[in-house]
Amino acid sequence: MKPIHVGLLGFGTVGGGTFQVLARNQEEISRRAGRRIEVKAVCRRDLEAARALVGDSVNVVADPMAIVNDPDIDIVVELIGGESVAKDVVMAAIAAGKHVVTANKALLALHGNEVFAAAQAKGVMVAFEAAVAGGVPIIKTLRESLAGNRIEWVAGIINGTTNFILSEMRSKGLSFEVVLKEAQRLGYAEADPTFDVEGVDAAHKLTLLSSIAFGVPVQFDKAHVEGISQLQAVDIKYAEQLGYRIKLLGITRRRDELGGIELRVHPTLVPANRLIANVEGAMNAVMVQADAAGTTLYYGKGAGAEPTASSVVADLVDVTRLATADPDHRVPHLAFQPDQVQRIPVLPMSGVRSSYYLRLRVADETGVLSRITTILAENDISIDAVLQRESFEGERQTDLIILTHTTVEERMDRAQEFMQSLPSVLAPIARIRKEDLA
Ligand code: NDP
Ligand code: HSE
Repeated sequence: MKPIHVGLLGFGTVGGGTFQVLARNQEEISRRAGRRIEVKAVCRRDLEAARALVGDSVNVVADPMAIVNDPDIDIVVELIGGESVAKDVVMAAIAAGKHVVTANKALLALHGNEVFAAAQAKGVMVAFEAAVAGGVPIIKTLRESLAGNRIEWVAGIINGTTNFILSEMRSKGLSFEVVLKEAQRLGYAEADPTFDVEGVDAAHKLTLLSSIAFGVPVQFDKAHVEGISQLQAVDIKYAEQLGYRIKLLGITRRRDELGGIELRVHPTLVPANRLIANVEGAMNAVMVQADAAGTTLYYGKGAGAEPTASSVVADLVDVTRLATADPDHRVPHLAFQPDQVQRIPVLPMSGVRSSYYLRLRVADETGVLSRITTILAENDISIDAVLQRESFEGERQTDLIILTHTTVEERMDRAQEFMQSLPSVLAPIARIRKEDLA
């Protein structure tokens, strides 16, 4: 069978990794795909840099549209990133009847509904395994391997950069800034690392997971997004003393009693004896709670050139195998048939159920603890554990750490407001959600 021709648009960390993996494993890949997958052209603006990697046998261009409009290219692989050029390129490729493989979660989280509708109408595939959790095959797993299940919730460490930062801060006591620079050097961070640090990248990925888990449209604009930039080293330390690790988790959960789903990214205390709490460095892990399979956990490298390339190439094999199939016989982009996607709303955070870690800097005087516990009790919030450190030397103040049982977020909002207004509470209260993931 004649080889299938691929154009790589974007030839940086992931583009370079994809080229290398395809070249190194060409024989194995052809045996799986049934025909050779050949890179015919690569695109980046720095032509010299691209040429140095691919040699003379591959066409090197600076204009992505030169590949999109090349009739000899069957599959366009978008690895430029961002929204603007990438969206133009992907939409133009679809319009030209080409299949698309992309690692671009930002593009799909923001414009996925439009992109998938266009692809559906044109009968082409848009494959995106690499967009979530790098080398961990979570998209295929949720979309195909768990297709017999009703998914209850998905919770994951889906940003390698922040997990790397949290791990290094906890285990080596390194500063946030030092570890972030190292993550950038290693190629984990996004072009704009605030996307990593502020939870936006994780929310992009969670949005896609939520869609394929529950058969809902892509709803990034409804996601609650909190990153790790406000997290203080002292809370990582106290959490550890209490038997917890702090992870940036993306959580999406079905809440049938309220007719909606939760969609949230935020730092989270997880019991230290859970497998997911021990996922360190740039590793990712996604837990899925499903009715038939029970709890499953998918773990692996969430970023970096070759782990991400592994998923890009797997999509290339899939697309190659299915290119000649009737479009109606392919797996739907968002797992559910397009006419079965349901507009289930994302619930406001006030309705989310969670337990909490609270750290209060309080005056070390009689009655403080009782005033605080009274406020919690009045708001129907039950206390799970309390830790009071010794007074700071020479100061009559101390840190009071409280863990609560599960409650509704709006109750905690109210209680926090009352606690914060007490004269004996001397600084803004630190509050972090806690999940048992059992
Ligand atoms: P890089 O910045 O390393 O690579 C981007 C490439 O695109 C560069 O070769 C750049 O080259 C080229 N490029 C940028 N703008 C243009 C343009 N206007 N025209 C032509 N070429 C352009 O990014 P990554 O490889 O890290 O990321 C690519 C995608 O993969 C992103 O969507 C990212 O979110 C995603 N991803 C990345 C992972 C990782 O670990 N790095 C993991 C999972 C997903 P030049 O500047 O010379 O034009
Ligand atoms: N910046 C992302 C991360 C790359 O750190 O996880 C992988 O998507």
